[in-house]
Amino acid sequence: MGISVGITYAIIINLTLLLRHETLSELTVPGLDNKAYVKDGDILIGYLIHVYRYSRSEFCSNVVRPTGAQNTEIAGFIVDRINEDETLLPNITLGFVVFDDCQKDLTALARSIYFVPSTKKGQTSDGNHYKVAGIVGPIYSRQSVMVSSFLGLFNIPVLSPLSTSDELSDKSRFPFFMRLVSPDTFQAVAVVSIVEHFRWSYVSLLYSEGSYGENAAKHIERLTRSRDICLAVSKRLSSDYDDADMARIVSGIRANKDAPVVILFLECADFRKLFGYVRKNNLTSHFVWISGDTMPCLETLDVEEVGLGALFIAHQNGMVPGYEAYVRSLSWKDSPNPWRPLMYEDFYHCTWSNSIRGDDEKSCARYDNLENATNVTWTEPAKISDCFMVYAKAIHNLISDHCPELFASNRSRNFSACITGSRLISYMKNLSLDGYSGRITFDSKGDMHDKYEIRQVRGSLRDGFYHYPVGDWERTTNLLFLNRTRLDWGGKKKNLSRMKIQSICSRPCKVGQYYQRKEVHCCWECITCRDNEVTVRNMTDCQPCPDFTWPDNDTKTKCEPITPYYLKGTDSTGLTLLSLEILGVLIAASIVVIYIVKHNNKLIKATSKELSILILIGCMLACFVAMFFITYPDNVSCLLRQSGFHLVVCIVYSPLLTKTSRVYRIFSSGKKGISRPKFISSKAQVFLTTAMILIQVIVLTALEQLFPSSTIRLMPFPYEPYVEITCSLRFESFLPPLSYNLLLIFVCAVFGFLTKSLPENFNDSRYIFVSISTTLFMWSLFLPTYFTTLRSDHKAILLSVCLLLNTFITLLCQFFPKVYAVFFVSEESIKFNNSGTTTSIRITPSCATISGT
Ligand SMILES: *[C@@H]1O[C@H](CO)[C@@H](O)[C@H](O)[C@H]1NC(C)=O
Ligand SMILES: *[C@@H]1O[C@H](CO)[C@@H](O)[C@H](O)[C@H]1NC(C)=O
Ligand SMILES: *[C@@H]1O[C@H](CO)[C@@H](O)[C@H](O)[C@H]1NC(C)=O
Ligand SMILES: *[C@@H]1O[C@H](CO)[C@@H](O)[C@H](O)[C@H]1NC(C)=O
Ligand SMILES: *[C@@H]1O[C@H](CO)[C@@H](O)[C@H](O)[C@H]1NC(C)=O
Ligand SMILES: *[C@@H]1O[C@H](CO)[C@@H](O)[C@H](O)[C@H]1NC(C)=O
Ligand SMILES: *[C@@H]1O[C@H](CO)[C@@H](O)[C@H](O)[C@H]1NC(C)=O
Ligand SMILES: *[C@@H]1O[C@H](CO)[C@@H](O)[C@H](O)[C@H]1NC(C)=O
Ligand SMILES: *[C@@H]1O[C@H](CO)[C@@H](O)[C@H](O)[C@H]1NC(C)=O
Ligand SMILES: *[C@@H]1O[C@H](CO)[C@@H](O)[C@H](O)[C@H]1NC(C)=O
Ligand SMILES: *[C@@H]1O[C@H](CO)[C@@H](O)[C@H](O)[C@H]1NC(C)=O
Repeated sequence: MGISVGITYAIIINLTLLLRHETLSELTVPGLDNKAYVKDGDILIGYLIHVYRYSRSEFCSNVVRPTGAQNTEIAGFIVDRINEDETLLPNITLGFVVFDDCQKDLTALARSIYFVPSTKKGQTSDGNHYKVAGIVGPIYSRQSVMVSSFLGLFNIPVLSPLSTSDELSDKSRFPFFMRLVSPDTFQAVAVVSIVEHFRWSYVSLLYSEGSYGENAAKHIERLTRSRDICLAVSKRLSSDYDDADMARIVSGIRANKDAPVVILFLECADFRKLFGYVRKNNLTSHFVWISGDTMPCLETLDVEEVGLGALFIAHQNGMVPGYEAYVRSLSWKDSPNPWRPLMYEDFYHCTWSNSIRGDDEKSCARYDNLENATNVTWTEPAKISDCFMVYAKAIHNLISDHCPELFASNRSRNFSACITGSRLISYMKNLSLDGYSGRITFDSKGDMHDKYEIRQVRGSLRDGFYHYPVGDWERTTNLLFLNRTRLDWGGKKKNLSRMKIQSICSRPCKVGQYYQRKEVHCCWECITCRDNEVTVRNMTDCQPCPDFTWPDNDTKTKCEPITPYYLKGTDSTGLTLLSLEILGVLIAASIVVIYIVKHNNKLIKATSKELSILILIGCMLACFVAMFFITYPDNVSCLLRQSGFHLVVCIVYSPLLTKTSRVYRIFSSGKKGISRPKFISSKAQVFLTTAMILIQVIVLTALEQLFPSSTIRLMPFPYEPYVEITCSLRFESFLPPLSYNLLLIFVCAVFGFLTKSLPENFNDSRYIFVSISTTLFMWSLFLPTYFTTLRSDHKAILLSVCLLLNTFITLLCQFFPKVYAVFFVSEESIKFNNSGTTTSIRITPSCATISGT
C-alpha cells in the first residue's frame, strides 16, 4: 500500500500542533464538507465508511459507490438493536457519528479531526467535534494507518472491519488499533494451504508493488520453500507497467507449461492490467488463479470473465437477520442520514434531479420507502455490525467491572471518567463473543482469529458472475477444508479437466529410476538405472549390485541373492535326459541278460563275451553317470561327474581297443604267415583292458588329489539375473583324462580302419569301425562346442548327451546287429571258418550291412 511512514507522521504532528491551539473548535479542513449521519446517545461510536469513490485530486469524487449509501445505514440498524437489548448497556443509549472517508487515506485523516475530544465539558458533541468511545472503520489499510496513528495519540481505539495490512500489527506504532480480520500473513498461509491441498508443487506468483503484495510474496516464498513447493515465476508488477511488460510476464509464466496455477496478490489496478492483457490475447484458458482477498474488486472491472474459476480468500461476512427489512422501511423524508436519498437512486434506479417533477416516472420522490425495490444489491452488514457489537460488549463489561453505577438512570453521569481508551482496548482484546460473522476472539495484537472463506468465481458473461463459497480455512488450527463437489474450474471453457488440474514440474520417478535434480528442486529428470543396479541415497544415484545378487522387484533399492540355477531332473530337458538314461540302462541291461541267457549261441560264443559285457557295463555306467549331471552339484556329485565321465568312456573304449587290436594282430600275422600271435586269449584281453582302465583310474585319482572337485557359483552374464551353480572344472584336470580317452579312441579308430578292409565276413570289425568313426566325429563336434559354451548347464547337457550318444552308438552299432542275428537268423545259416572267428550273416538294417554268403 506504499505508505510513506515519514509523510504520515509529518502530517499528524502538524495536526496535533494545530490542535493544541485555542482555535481548535474552529479548525476545519478547507474543501471538506461536514456532512455526517449522527444519532445522539450517552456514548458515541465513530464510523468511517466510504460512500463516494476515491478521487486523486480532491478529498472526494462525486461518484457514489454502488452500495456506499447502504453501508451507512448499518450503523443505525445495529445501534438500534443494541439499544433495544435490555441486557446490553441497560439505561445507556449508544449513539454514533458516520462520516464518509471517500476511500481516501487523507480524507479519512481529515475526518479523524472530528473525533478529537472537544474541550467543552459535559457534551458529546459541539457540531464540529464528537467525543467518541472508539471508531469503527475505516476499510482500507492505508486509511487505518492514518486514522489509528492520529487517534492513537488521544487514546481512541480504532476497530477496522477489513484492514489487513501486516504493519497494523505493530503495536508500538498502533497501540489503539484492532481489527476483525487477520493480517495478510495468514492469507499467504491459507493460499499455500490451498496449493498444498491440490498437491501442486510448481506454481507462479504475481504480486503488486506495495506492502500488500510484497509482504504476501515474502511469506509465500518462505512458506513454499519449507513445503517442497517451487515458484516457477515470482514477479512484482510495478504500477507503471504497460502491455509490453504484461506480455513479457505472461509469456514468462506460460513458458512453464506444467505450472498453470498462478498465485495473485494484486491491487485492483494490476488486476485490470493483467486480466485485460490475458483476455485480449485469448489466454484465459491457460491459467488457474489463486488470489488473495482483493479478487472481489474485479466486480468493478470489466475483466471478470478472465477470473472465472479462480479461488480466492474472502473474509467472513454475511447478512444479518432483520437488516433487509430495516433498510426497506427507511423513508427519505426527514432523514437524519444525508446519504439515504442516494440509496433510493440505487434501489429504484431513479433520480432526485430538480428538472424532474415529483410525479415523474424517474423521480425518486414517488417512493415513500424501499419496500417495492427489486434488483437490489445488498451489502453484507455482518462484519461492520460485529464491530459495533464488540464496542457495546466491551463497554458493557468495562462499566460492570469499574463503574456499575453508570447503569442507573441518572442525568449527570460522567462516562468519560470511566471509559478510557486504554481500559476499553484491554476489554475489547479480552472479549469473546458469537458475532454475526462468526466467533470473535482476538490475539494479543488485537487481530481477530479469523476464519477465511474460500470462494470461487462462478457464473458467465451472460448471467453475471458471483462468488461461490467452496470451503474455509481456520487460522487457529491452520486447517483447510474444501468441498470438492462444489469446485468448478470453469468447465469446458478452461479445457482443464475437472478436478484434475496439475501444476507440477516433474512427476515422481518410477521404481528403478533415480532423480537428477535441476536448478529448481521441484524439477528433475528420471533416469532409469541399468537392470543390475539399485537406486541408492534416496533415489539420487544408481549402484550395481554385488555379484550373485539382483535388485528386488518391488523397490529396486535392495540387492537380493539370486537363486542359483542348475540342471534339474524335473526340468523338461532334465526329464528327457533322465528318460534316455534309463532307456540306455535298460537296453544295456537287457543285452547283458541276453548274452548270459544265450551264452551257448554260436554268435555270442564267437565274440569275446567278457569284453562285450564290460562294454555293456560301461554303457550302463555311462547312463548312470549321466544322471549326476541333472542333480544338484555338490562335492560328491561333482566327483562322480568328473571322474565318472572319463572313466566310463575308458571302460567302453578300452575293451574295444583290445578287441580291434586283437583282430588286427591275428590278421596281420595271418597275412605274413606267422603263427597265432600272443596274448589273444580271453584272459590276456581282460588283463589288457583292465590295465588300460587302471591307467585312467590312476590318472583320475592323481588329479582328484591335485584338484579336489568342488562347486562354484558363476554369473556368466552381468546384466542378466542368472546365477548358476556348477562343478568347478579346471582345464588342467579335464585335459589329461580326456587326452587319454581320445588316444584310446583314436588308436581304436586306426585299428578299425586297418581291419575294415579285411574279408567282409570277418567278425564285426566293420561295425566297430563305423561305431568308432561316428564317435570320433561326435567328439570332434563336441570338444569345440564344450569349450566355447558359456552356460554351465549347457555344458552339463553337452556332457550327458555326449555320454548318451556314446552309449547309444555303441549299443546300436555293436550290439544290435548281434542281438538281431541271435533272434532272427537261424544258427545253421551261420558258417564258421576253422578259426572259429568268422561270421557270415546278412542282416538289415544296421549301421552297416553284413554280407552273408
Ligand atoms: C481472440 O478471439 C477472438 C474471437 O474468438 C478473435 O476475434 C481474436 O482475434 C482473438 N485474439 C487473439 C489475440 O488471438
Ligand atoms: C408497492 O407496490 C404495491 C403494488 O405494486 C403498491 O400497492 C404499493 O403502494 C407500493 N408501495 C410503495 C411504498 O410504493
Ligand atoms: C432487474 O434486472 C433484470 C435483469 O438484470 C432486468 O431485466 C429487470 O428489468 C430489472 N428490474 C428492475 C425493476 O430494474
Ligand atoms: C435503569 O433505570 C431504572 C430507573 O431509573 C432502574 O430502576 C433500573 O434498575 C436501571 N437498570 C439497571 C440495570 O440499573
Ligand atoms: C447521579 O450521579 C451522581 C454522580 O454520579 C450522584 O452524585 C447522584 O446521587 C446520582 N443521582 C441519582 C438519582 O442516582
Ligand atoms: C468527567 O470526568 C473527567 C475525568 O475525571 C473530568 O475531567 C470531567 O471534568 C468530568 N466531567 C463532568 C461533567 O463531571
Ligand atoms: C478476561 O475475561 C475473562 C472472562 O471472560 C475474565 O475472567 C478476565 O478477568 C478478563 N481479563 C481482563 C484483563 O479483563
Ligand atoms: C459439499 O457441497 C455439497 C453441494 O453444495 C453439499 O451437498 C455437501 O453437503 C457439502 N459437503 C460438506 C462436507 O460440506
Ligand atoms: C483441449 O485439450 C485437448 C487436449 O488436452 C486439445 O487437444 C484441445 O485442442 C484443447 N482444446 C482447446 C479449445 O484448447
Ligand atoms: C528422501 O526423499 C524424500 C522425498 O524426496 C524426502 O521426503 C526424504 O526426507 C528424503 N530422505 C532423506 C534421508 O534424504
Ligand atoms: C520381477 O518382475 C519381472 C518382470 O515383471 C518378473 O518376470 C519376475 O518374475 C519378477 N520376479 C520376482 C521375484 O517377483
